[in-house]
Amino acid sequence: MLGKNEKTISKYNYIMSNLTFGIIKPDAVRAGNAGKIVDRVLSNGFKVRGMKLIHQTRKQAEGFYSVHAGKGFFDELTEFMSSGPCVVLALEKDNAVPAWRELMGATNPAEAAEGTLRKDFASSIGENAVHGSDSDENAAIEIAYFFSKLELV
Ligand code: CMP
Repeated sequence: MLGKNEKTISKYNYIMSNLTFGIIKPDAVRAGNAGKIVDRVLSNGFKVRGMKLIHQTRKQAEGFYSVHAGKGFFDELTEFMSSGPCVVLALEKDNAVPAWRELMGATNPAEAAEGTLRKDFASSIGENAVHGSDSDENAAIEIAYFFSKLELV
């Protein structure tokens, strides 16, 4: 019988510690900050393996954030994430998941450290400019949610 990780590996085929998934959220795109954030991604040593501008439907956003279904902020979150275009990113760097989380800063921008993306570009815990995976397993799942293998260089 397969363990949880082995199942995930057989389904997604590429759990890697050097890949993570990111979103430049609708608030940051609307504010014209997507280019500045991509610039920070590159200047912090990430390689972009996949990038595209998408406008999610409510259903796609609900599927992506299904782990939060039932939480008080779920409706607000999925309405916001489908409210306009966002940029989805597959990013490569050593220890990509913690490296991207460090660059993003705390979920609540009021608690985000100086020099982080959320400190510089986010306005609230709901509209917090960027998303990042919280584990290598979830990075593989989240990349596969938005990118086909052909879209990853
Ligand atoms: P993200 O990293 O995209 O993952 C889940 C998101 O839910 C999180 O960023 C926040 O934007 C959002 N979120 C978490 N807690 C709250 C909250 N209390 N109110 C509104 N949104 C929240």
